[in-house]
Amino acid sequence: MSINKNTKIYVAGHRGMVGSAIVRQLQAKGFTNIVTRTHAELDLTNQHAVQTFFQEERPGQVYLAAAKVGGIHANNTYPAEFIYQNLMMEANVVHHAFQAGVKKLLFLGSSCIYPKMAPQPMAEDALLTGKLEATNEPYAIAKIAGIKLCESYNRQYSQSHGVDYRSVMPTNIYGPGDNYHPENSHVIPALIRRFHEAKEKNLPEVVIWGTGTPMREFLYVDDMAAASVFVMELDKAVYDQHTQPMQSHINVGFGSDMTIKELAETVCQVVGYQGQIIFDNSKPDGTPKKLMNSASINEMGWYAKVGLPDGLAVAYQDFLRITN
Ligand SMILES: NC(=O)c1ccc[n+]([C@@H]2O[C@H](COP(=O)([O-])OP(=O)(O)OC[C@H]3O[C@@H](n4cnc5c(N)ncnc54)[C@H](OP(=O)(O)O)[C@@H]3O)[C@@H](O)[C@H]2O)c1
Repeated sequence: MSINKNTKIYVAGHRGMVGSAIVRQLQAKGFTNIVTRTHAELDLTNQHAVQTFFQEERPGQVYLAAAKVGGIHANNTYPAEFIYQNLMMEANVVHHAFQAGVKKLLFLGSSCIYPKMAPQPMAEDALLTGKLEATNEPYAIAKIAGIKLCESYNRQYSQSHGVDYRSVMPTNIYGPGDNYHPENSHVIPALIRRFHEAKEKNLPEVVIWGTGTPMREFLYVDDMAAASVFVMELDKAVYDQHTQPMQSHINVGFGSDMTIKELAETVCQVVGYQGQIIFDNSKPDGTPKKLMNSASINEMGWYAKVGLPDGLAVAYQDFLRITN
């Protein structure tokens, strides 16, 4: 189904890594009427402000890529902020989008919605089948609530109001616009920073926690943005065929995983660090494997395109631009 290129589209979180890639993707596809607000202009946890915004702007579509996001350290240190802010943003945006007549909305979740011991690769039907990873449980609960918000509005209002709110669950994302904070970042930006600093200081080795054997999956952010627009534009009959009213989310993964050792070696190569990589076996490893089952989105016709070395090369240039 082709969508009018003048449709007014609100991208929430447009200055974030994923939101900015969605804006790039929409612009590349010729969409000309993209509405944005910075966090300072519109605090999405503020119900009244969100209501006023939607009543004034009345967008035709919404991408909800705003969230409070962080690594293990941030999730463990600020659990109250993670659950409260994410629940508020989702509830405010979904409800006031509905009230303003928005028919199409895409909610971005995360692979951490799945139980810690979910069978690998994790398929959509693993949701709510077991206990979550404790460190990011508050964040995951908020993301699960986001999926259920979209589903509930669909179930109650799709017939009467034509509501069609969809959800995508990305694996680990990396690329330009990432967060390189020394403590609050995810594994790829953290490794980029560490190898870069080791190169600058001519350090003989970089020590990485654990054995390097855990396996993880990584998706380049422009692939994620393409998947987001793809799912938003999917014909409703096709989306409905691959989902159920109470299991409506779609996984978005690269399709294969790699060891942390392979990841570290690739980052090391891209950064051009010449020293040794040492794995400290005395430190904990975390879950041995975390891979999404992306069969559903693949069957609908979307595949990731950007391999890790190419994606990392762009990410490293972005890191150099931000830090210089
Ligand atoms: N990064 C990943 O690996 C990954 C993996 C899976 C899923 N996701 C999902 O993808 C989405 C986007 O993640 P991201 O990595 O792009 O995060 P990000 O770079 O931190 O971007 C999030 C954006 O949301 C904005 N925001 C946060 N709180 C807000 C508020 N109260 N009001 C208005 N704006 C607010 C932030 O603005 P400020 O910075 O000004 O606060 C920021 O621009 C999230 O839903 C996340 O769960 C990300």
